[in-house]
Amino acid sequence: MAEQADAAGATGPRVRPRRLRRTPTLRRLVQETSVAAQHLVLPVFVREGITEPVPISSMPGVVQHSRDSLLAAVTEAAELGLGGVMLFGVPEHKDATGSGALDPHGVLNLAITDVVAEVGDALTVMSDLCLDEFTDHGHCGVLTPDGAVDNDATLAIYADMARAHADAGVDMVGPSGMMDGQVRVIRDALDRDDHTDVSILAYSAKYASAFYGPFREAVDSSLQGDRRTYQQDAPNAVEGVREALLDVAEGADIVMVKPALAYLDVIRRVRDAVDVPVAAYNISGEYAMVEAAAARGWIDREAAILETLTAIRRAGSDVVLTYWAAEAARLLR
Ligand code: PBG
Repeated sequence: MAEQADAAGATGPRVRPRRLRRTPTLRRLVQETSVAAQHLVLPVFVREGITEPVPISSMPGVVQHSRDSLLAAVTEAAELGLGGVMLFGVPEHKDATGSGALDPHGVLNLAITDVVAEVGDALTVMSDLCLDEFTDHGHCGVLTPDGAVDNDATLAIYADMARAHADAGVDMVGPSGMMDGQVRVIRDALDRDDHTDVSILAYSAKYASAFYGPFREAVDSSLQGDRRTYQQDAPNAVEGVREALLDVAEGADIVMVKPALAYLDVIRRVRDAVDVPVAAYNISGEYAMVEAAAARGWIDREAAILETLTAIRRAGSDVVLTYWAAEAARLLR
């Protein structure tokens, strides 16, 4: 209303928001949101049985690491001042119960040990705590005889998996399977084993999304069916807040919304509802879209990367998981 009155002045508008946009210095002064390396987490894939990194074709620039190339990648992440790395294991052999997940010499548990030894004092080392990378059917849990994902039988395995990751030295486990009660079971298992210092980054509001497509290639998953009986439906935002509140009550130290771009409103709602840090996962399909369009010269790649990360932070996330973490840190220097 005041602006309308001002606009009627004889010499033109009195209120001119453009004044604060005139120079880079002014724009920098009034910038509301920032992206910094310290808040970025790099997800990395490590594959069993390879000696050279294998490119992931639907995620140009991202690879499945060998044990050696993983160490080079996390060393670079540490030098760039990233906040952390999220480790995903791709086992050579998968089975119905994902038994490779519990093997202390399994690919993920070894990777945790290696990475903690290499950069444990410089980065927060996180692990994806889920069975889908390890099961031959590609689901996040074990199945009942009629093929449903068995919530409570899966919880028992998650508890063992949390202990295995903690024994390997992880700082933070990331339960991502969307089983009811998973945070509580994991917290209890860790505490009973004197791993009270290991924290939980809960994938709380995780939606069944078409944008996970490239991730399936990244972890060699041959998912049968879909995840709609355990991951959330895209239309539901209140339910996302409910999941986050439940996870906080169960002991989550950080709650996460995933994917990020199609769920920026959920990030905001969760940020306003909880009193713990909120993370968001800028996922494989979000990465692939920008890379594919940029490769055709249709958008400015670097500008699109920084704008994407800024939007995810502006929506309310404190921590951002992104395949561009290292690159963004370089651009921001
Ligand atoms: C489950 C998990 C998934 C992703 C991270 N953890 C796949 C899924 O739930 O379907 C997806 C990450 C991405 O797409 O970048 N272990």
